Amino acid sequence: MTQKISVSNLCDIAPLSAADITTILDRAAFFKTALSTKTVPQTLKDKVILTLFTENSTRTRNSFEMAVLRLGGKLMNWDEKISSAQKGETFSDTLRYLNGYQPDAVVMRHHEYNAPNYVAGIVDCPVINAGDSYREHPTQALLDAFTIKEAKGKIDGLTIAIVGDLAHSRVAGSDVPLLTKMGATIHLIAPENLQPRSVPEGVKIFSTLEDGLVGCDVIITLRIQKERMDASVIPNDTAYFHAYGLTLERLALAKPDVIVMHPGPMNRGVEIADEVADDPTHSVIFQQGANGVPVRMAVLDLLVGEST
Ligand code: NCD
Repeated sequence: MTQKISVSNLCDIAPLSAADITTILDRAAFFKTALSTKTVPQTLKDKVILTLFTENSTRTRNSFEMAVLRLGGKLMNWDEKISSAQKGETFSDTLRYLNGYQPDAVVMRHHEYNAPNYVAGIVDCPVINAGDSYREHPTQALLDAFTIKEAKGKIDGLTIAIVGDLAHSRVAGSDVPLLTKMGATIHLIAPENLQPRSVPEGVKIFSTLEDGLVGCDVIITLRIQKERMDASVIPNDTAYFHAYGLTLERLALAKPDVIVMHPGPMNRGVEIADEVADDPTHSVIFQQGANGVPVRMAVLDLLVGEST
């Protein structure tokens, strides 16, 4: 029987213990092998997972859907744009009706801060957060951790730089507490107007790549989230690239075996140069994306799967 985790929803990183995170990463490794040998146990057989996305998504949504299907589960989708929300129905009433259909889990992305915890208070099944406003994106942090462990064999003791729009990044909102909990040292690098409002103790903030990248084992680059900021914050993509774009030259400031990650979508030529994104020696960006499937399989399996 699979060891379970101590939480019944995945809305944020804080309630997860280091042991829970290790359990999820180990289960993801099991599923990655099972996918390659086509021996995936059908632990979501007869389960129906409700997806509820009010913001755009490619990787998160499609890898969750693939994860459900690979585990033998079924999907039901609520689409805000063609729903009765357009006729004035409240979100709370919508949730009460959808809950009446008894889904086995809700996977949700929502533009409102902390919406997943609100939904978890209404529905009777586990809620998995696929990103809420600029707050948290816990499964992205788990797949980032999985990718780091796969490439480096560990997380504990590594120095990990997170570069870019930290003020608006829910990825950083989950990466920082997760990677810190697993023993990494975090360097946050951003221009002053994109630095986070607060950081946990021990996390270092830098305002230049030249200072922040020195000694790093991992660099996580983030997209500039123009949809969440005033146009004046980043007036010019070229100037941003000039100051904060990750180029091969800047990569050389980090450790020689540094790996480069990006949650996607990438804005090539803004936060990352093509030569870095496609560098076969350092970039693990597309493996990172692919790891979304086994990691989300692990989360679904541990929260709703039947033991096999
Ligand atoms: C991120 C997101 O939507 O939070 N993308 C993702 O889930 N892979 C990051 C972003 O939009 O920049």
